[in-house]
Amino acid sequence: MADSSEDARYRGPNSNNNGDTIKSNGFHNGDVVIQEEKVALKKRVGLVSGIALIVGTMIGSGIFISPKGVLDGTGSIGLSLIVWLGCGLISLFGALSYAELGTLITKSGAEFAYLFEAMGPIPAYMYSWTSVIVLKPSTVAVICLAFAEYVFEPIFDGCGPPELIKKLLAAAAILAVTMVNCYSVKLASRVQVFFTFTKLAALAMIIIGGFVMMGQGNTQNLDPKTTFQGTTSSASAIALAFYDGLWAYDGWNNLNYVTEELKNPYKDLPRSIIIALPLVTICYLLTNISYFSVMDKAELLASDAVAATWGARVLGVAAIIIPISVACSTFGAANGSCFTGGRLVYAAAREGHLPEILSYVHVRQLTPLPSLVFTSLIALIMIIPGDIFTLIDFFSFTAWLFYGATMAAVIILRFTRPHEHRPYKVPIVLPIFVLLCSIYLVLGPIIDNPQIELLYAFLFVISGLIFYVPFVHFKLVLPGMDTFTKYMQLILEVAPSKYLPP
Ligand code: ARG
Repeated sequence: MADSSEDARYRGPNSNNNGDTIKSNGFHNGDVVIQEEKVALKKRVGLVSGIALIVGTMIGSGIFISPKGVLDGTGSIGLSLIVWLGCGLISLFGALSYAELGTLITKSGAEFAYLFEAMGPIPAYMYSWTSVIVLKPSTVAVICLAFAEYVFEPIFDGCGPPELIKKLLAAAAILAVTMVNCYSVKLASRVQVFFTFTKLAALAMIIIGGFVMMGQGNTQNLDPKTTFQGTTSSASAIALAFYDGLWAYDGWNNLNYVTEELKNPYKDLPRSIIIALPLVTICYLLTNISYFSVMDKAELLASDAVAATWGARVLGVAAIIIPISVACSTFGAANGSCFTGGRLVYAAAREGHLPEILSYVHVRQLTPLPSLVFTSLIALIMIIPGDIFTLIDFFSFTAWLFYGATMAAVIILRFTRPHEHRPYKVPIVLPIFVLLCSIYLVLGPIIDNPQIELLYAFLFVISGLIFYVPFVHFKLVLPGMDTFTKYMQLILEVAPSKYLPP
């Protein structure tokens, strides 16, 4: 097994410009691996924490909001259950392909590292640029909007709060998680552990309740004779249904971001994936079946907060537990995504992909404050025009562009490094299959019904190149940038991390 000194040869998001491995102290709890600078890099993720990391990231807001979008796209209960299963399989095959990459290239940083090795610095830069500007902030925005939806559900009792109030609460949630993360890494990690339990409890309650309801004979919505009534035949509607379903599964690649910290990456990376993905798929299918045990198609489509409607039907006076636990779950997911989002900005800035100030760390709290604030600012801007489902489409379109590129990387590396030892070798049909799925997912909605948001997303990816050439390749510094950096340094009390006291 490679040790830390061996890892120090690699450069990736976990390395600084000198190629030194950044030292980190990982707190692994559910959604996030929180890393604090300055403590030796430890290999502390084993099989169980690896599984927890994947499961904890995947389960967030999606299972409580996406069923509506999936049903809307598919038009029937039967097809929507098939889409939920299909999303699980695509994620599993995608994750297994990532397992080959993660054991072949044992750098942290997932897509960034793999695209760099297979296709060179420009695709890797486009990835870090896009995830900094689009992917991470939109993740935080969607999850906080879902949080607001559930907090207001009991208050407005099913008819939904005014849009503006919902957005203000979502903005407040973004500010709250940013403050937690800026304040302390330890606090953020405690928040994470607490909220991970609440989401598991919420899912367990819904699944058990569903079994009880079906035991009492509530199976009419799941009758095989009628479940496929109303099925759509539009390819783009199905692609959008997959977007909503895949949002709930997103996070299947998260263990690949911390490969360097796995105790035994060659064994535990594939194993964690093989255990975690089917586990989440089964949980999601059972949760959906439970929703349908008490709601028919029209009722589910009318509800913005399915789990809350489910609670009102099944739990009676105790129904308040559901919105509270879902609000906790989404808050926890937002907290984790804010952290990882901030960290990615920080790593990209350190690679010279973003202004230097974004790689600075608060001098007392030792948190990457500028990058956290930056991610949150973009997330705030996104919630102004955005509604949950548009943002999910926006996110998924962009994310699948890069998941597809990474599948291509698996195939390319089989040709460019044919003899290199692959501790885990994925059957090549799987990345090919996922690549084809991603092409369908990206092109389907554009061809059928071009939406302006998707064009924006595409332009963002491309505009990365405009910045790459002068600022990254030629390392151009804008006049006044140094002064700006110095002022920001004083105002925010931040410093380059390598100058911090040990
Ligand atoms: N699947 C999660 C949810 O349902 C979203 C995960 C966002 N992605 C991430 N890498 N944190 O809320």
